[in-house]
Amino acid sequence: MKIHSIPPDFAAWRRQARTLLRDGVPPGEVGWSSDPGQGELFGRDSGATIPSSQPVPASSLAVPKAFLDLAECVACHRDQSRWGLLYSLLWRLTRGGEKPLLRLTTDDEVIRANRFAKEVGRDLHKMRAFVRFREVSGESANGREQFVAWFEPVHHIVRRNAPFFRKRFTNMNWSILTPDECAHWDGERLRFTPGLSRSSAPEDDALEELWLTYYRNIFNPARLKLKAMQAEMPVKYWKNLPEAPVIRELTTRASHRREIMIANPGLSPRPAPPNPYLRNLHARNEVSPLPALDPAELESASLADLREQAACCRACPLWDRATQTVFGEGSPDASLMIIGEQPGDREDLEGRPFVGPAGQLLDRALAEAGIDRDAVYLTNAVKHFKWKAPSPTASGHPARGPRRLHDKANRHEQETCRPWLVAEIAKVRPRVIVTLGATAASSVIRASFSVTAERGEVAGAIRIPFDGRVFATVHPSYLLRMRDQKQKTRAFDDFVADLKAAQMATVS
Ligand code: URA
Repeated sequence: MKIHSIPPDFAAWRRQARTLLRDGVPPGEVGWSSDPGQGELFGRDSGATIPSSQPVPASSLAVPKAFLDLAECVACHRDQSRWGLLYSLLWRLTRGGEKPLLRLTTDDEVIRANRFAKEVGRDLHKMRAFVRFREVSGESANGREQFVAWFEPVHHIVRRNAPFFRKRFTNMNWSILTPDECAHWDGERLRFTPGLSRSSAPEDDALEELWLTYYRNIFNPARLKLKAMQAEMPVKYWKNLPEAPVIRELTTRASHRREIMIANPGLSPRPAPPNPYLRNLHARNEVSPLPALDPAELESASLADLREQAACCRACPLWDRATQTVFGEGSPDASLMIIGEQPGDREDLEGRPFVGPAGQLLDRALAEAGIDRDAVYLTNAVKHFKWKAPSPTASGHPARGPRRLHDKANRHEQETCRPWLVAEIAKVRPRVIVTLGATAASSVIRASFSVTAERGEVAGAIRIPFDGRVFATVHPSYLLRMRDQKQKTRAFDDFVADLKAAQMATVS
């Protein structure tokens, strides 16, 4: 007999699944479908036909936490087959005795569930990145200004994302309206109401003008790359962004402004925004509430997901003057991870670590040490290029040479970036880490570490959760700066010897 059920949300699905499990109903005998009369019932009252009046104690349904985490995420997917998929996995986990099921990366259902979770994860991040609040005239009952945003998520993610917005914009009243469901925060309580039509979103309020002005002012043409912008912000989201009308205007003016900025490297047109919402963002140096790393999502994220999230990182001010985030690259199964300081000018433009002069020297040293660069995972302690303009010469003429000079990231910037590095290490799980120079050593080993005095394999505890071996050596740019040729050759040989020792440690 087929039983039809309509789970309105994860909690209801869980209740129904328990009942079905208890009654021994196999997945093949359950059809999960939506009631066409009510559309999808996510977040609303259920039309379930399975009686759920006999609660089953939670203890009788023991499943790994990893399954619950995955299932909660998959439940947000818009694909109708998600409930059946989850029930089948649950059945196999509890009735079929397939305990390590989730680790079976070739299992079709596990693959599909992970794909759903990934798609939901991507949508969560897009929402965090592209929701823009607009002020609604009039104060709310508690005297706080009221902000509204309209967003059209791909999946049912409003409830899952609402706590993020509550935390981020806790000091203002806001509503996020979507066609599925709306979330509201009044300083005390998160509430959810049914979805709305597009016309309910405020179009022409004061904040919109303000936002456009602000956006014009902070717009940095040196960072303008239409392709990257479209990849990062798919065109379908553009229509909901208040800044969309100015994008074309700004793009046509960009090349002119770029010239002006190159001629005036210190140019900083950013005004203090007069509005609490914008002040909020400005204080954090954010143009938009973009995601910092969420530890809860780290578990299910792949390296590619991390790279995608890091591309949006605004957690410290460095993103503002950099062209892009330079995330690590190389083999995701590398047994050797090499960590540098921060991208340089070339890396910033190309979006890859170690492709400039220091990278070329590193390549030579790796080759000499018999290490294949493609087999290594290369990354940096800080993922954005920090630079300063050269000071004018004594005669008052502009300085010759590179226009953007490397500027060391400060402690705050290093610390803010560390979670990305910790995440890369957790994902790649190398056997050996090599730190190049002081910044990498202070991020991985300890702030007071002296490369000169303590170079070589590091004994004792380090700051990062890592159970492999750690080697510290000099940064290739230190070698590049050496003038004395003999000294330089000796230093290069020592550097190669350090890399060799680290490589040996990956197999011993
Ligand atoms: N120096 C670094 O530390 N990292 C790079 O990616 C390039 C230069």
